[in-house]
Amino acid sequence: MEKFKCLLFFVVVSLCSCDAYKILAVFPMPSPTHGILGDNMVKHLLNAGHEVTYITPFASKQKSNPKLHIVDVTDHHNFFNTDLLDITQILAGSMNFKDPNFVFSMMMNIAAMTLEHRDVQKLMKDPQQKFDVIIGEYMFADLYSTFPAVFQCPYIWFSTIEPHWMIVNLVHGPMNPAYNGDYMHANIPPFSFMQRVQELWILLTGLYRHNNEYYKREEEVYQKHIVPILKEQGKPVPDYKVLKYNASLLLGNSQVAIGNAVPLPPSYKHIGGYHIEDEVKPLPEDLKKIMDNAKNGVIYFSLGSNLKSKNLPDELKKGLLEVFGGLKQTVLWKFEENLPNQPKNVHIVQWAPQQSLLAHPNLALFVTHGGLLSLTEAVHFGVPVIAIPVFADQFLNANQAQHKGIGEKVDLTYNLHKDLKIALDKVLADLPRYTARMKELSTAYHDSPMKPKEALNFWVEHVVRTRGAPHLRSVALQVPLYQQAYLDLLVVLLAAAVAILLLVKKILCYFKSQKSIKQKEN
Ligand SMILES: *[C@@H]1O[C@H](CO)[C@@H](O)[C@H](O)[C@H]1NC(C)=O
Repeated sequence: MEKFKCLLFFVVVSLCSCDAYKILAVFPMPSPTHGILGDNMVKHLLNAGHEVTYITPFASKQKSNPKLHIVDVTDHHNFFNTDLLDITQILAGSMNFKDPNFVFSMMMNIAAMTLEHRDVQKLMKDPQQKFDVIIGEYMFADLYSTFPAVFQCPYIWFSTIEPHWMIVNLVHGPMNPAYNGDYMHANIPPFSFMQRVQELWILLTGLYRHNNEYYKREEEVYQKHIVPILKEQGKPVPDYKVLKYNASLLLGNSQVAIGNAVPLPPSYKHIGGYHIEDEVKPLPEDLKKIMDNAKNGVIYFSLGSNLKSKNLPDELKKGLLEVFGGLKQTVLWKFEENLPNQPKNVHIVQWAPQQSLLAHPNLALFVTHGGLLSLTEAVHFGVPVIAIPVFADQFLNANQAQHKGIGEKVDLTYNLHKDLKIALDKVLADLPRYTARMKELSTAYHDSPMKPKEALNFWVEHVVRTRGAPHLRSVALQVPLYQQAYLDLLVVLLAAAVAILLLVKKILCYFKSQKSIKQKEN
């Protein structure tokens, strides 16, 4: 029976993989999380038999594969300063990651640097290069949607966070701000009156910036780095506006079970969790021993790959060690250095295979920065969380975890150790309830017709098979916002009301004058 199943599997696989496509994957963001997302997407596409050209700043990490062609943009690391995420600056509140102009300018520079990069230019100028489809990572700049003008093939956006208005705007139009929050402000619906007003304001000012200042700056880059190539190759030069709104599909690193059940256009497809390995890798011997022997369960504490916890102020380190030392659970702390006076139940690990730890039955609680990859892994393996958000969408993820009852949120301040103790006491006292809720969510997340990586491959291939999936294109793109909001009807009604008022006034005046004439005659 097993053999027969195997055979059947191979027949099915070989039938499916007869169409191998040439794919360009654009993931130039020099940050580890984005590297994980890009690498895993490329891995799945290669495993499905496709040939991938991969623009990545993590070139040295790639395994050689005859079907993989690397375009190396490692230089990007020199321009994107990860020290921006220095924990001391965050604690001091001197970060400007909440300023949309700051974020846009930084992301726009990375996008522009990618388009003008000598190897990317070489790729675009090479007439031998042909692609069936292009996948580009959305990072607050819309510029990668100009690649299809050069290669004349369909384009797919990849969004790294929960669906939000900026990205959905590109394939459908803005999302209704009455129940779709901007990811930065981290509001969870249903909103209060003030929150609804705030969301509307963010949307309107954001749309204004994107349609004016940002649009102009991006169009300049398009004119400078893409248009000359199109002219030289005798290809049509589309308007930047047309390219910007011409993506065939939007793949989201999201899942309904983890985010909100918001209405999305047919071209939006959830593939969140595709970065998680099918088979859990075995733990290294020393970690396995710690995990197996933890009679009271294990708490795993990691602030992710961007933040260096060694930059934590000494008092905080000491405070955290004291809090952890007072617990009956074993604590695994992912940290870059060893600490003096470590309590017996606390183990410091420089590196940890996070998925393998989360998969261990003794893992009771995950204390995380609340990055979406970590939260998705927690849901995948059914482990409740305490989230300490640091930047970007992490505040939203933390609020969401709290809202769904799968965890609690703690602010990153000089009081972290005290606040974390309160949260730990709360969650540990009620752990079975948090765990049960997390398991429910995990069941909903897993109960799906396709695994995330299968959905990824299916929809990418679908776009190629249907020549850009025009049937999925949202009709809302053809209806201007003022029409969607019926502002034209409002104008007609107002005009009619004014006309009626004027008419009534005229009639009244007429009768009045008639009356006075009659009175005079009498
Ligand atoms: C828009 O996308 C479709 C589908 O990929 C493609 O056929 C069309 O040529 C694109 N339009 C422009 C102006 O690039």
